[in-house]
Amino acid sequence: MRQMDPLRADTIREAEGEVLEVGFGTGLNLAYYGPAVKTLVGLDPLDVTDVDKVRARIQNSAFPIERRALRADGGLPFDAGRFDSVVTTWTLCSIPEVRKALREMRRVLKPGGRYVFIEHGRADEDATARWQDRINPLWNRMCDGCNINRKIDRLVEEGGFEMERLDRFRGQGPGIVAQMYRGVATRS
Ligand SMILES: C[S@@+](CC[C@H](N)C(=O)[O-])C[C@H]1O[C@@H](n2cnc3c(N)ncnc32)[C@H](O)[C@@H]1O
Repeated sequence: MRQMDPLRADTIREAEGEVLEVGFGTGLNLAYYGPAVKTLVGLDPLDVTDVDKVRARIQNSAFPIERRALRADGGLPFDAGRFDSVVTTWTLCSIPEVRKALREMRRVLKPGGRYVFIEHGRADEDATARWQDRINPLWNRMCDGCNINRKIDRLVEEGGFEMERLDRFRGQGPGIVAQMYRGVATRS
């Protein structure tokens, strides 16, 4: 995931206040949060906080961090409207029940709160999208449940968010995995 670092800064600095980061991973986004962040809950079913580098990232953070070893599609144990911002980076691809996770993310966001994301997903170009559909079953088995053909903007909007801004661009690597969706959406 380190090769994605140049893309993190522009995305992560949009987060503010009480933040929920879904798919916290090894905490690679922590270096990019700005001074407007008060606290962060980092949610991920994979708990790697016993790894020295991850522990150091958490300990060196300028704001308090609470790690929760939970799945976002299992129902979130937070009151409705608790968070000012929800963040995901390259995570919606791996959540099995992604629609359920997005509904939960919306529920715990304050009215007017922002969902900030950078994700990879389905190509706009038909030929690449067809290749994504062909390869996805194998890719999914080989890469820990990752899906390369999800239409991220549609999923976000169907989850009850209103798209404020969306950048579509090609990142590094093969076309089937390099279709980026970077955006900010508000709780509608
Ligand atoms: C490709 S990694 C990205 C990690 C991190 N966001 C980053 O940018 O480095 C995808 C992450 O999604 C997490 N994940 C998978 N299923 C999930 C679920 N149901 N709910 C929340 N996170 C999940 C994985 O454990 C993994 O840490």
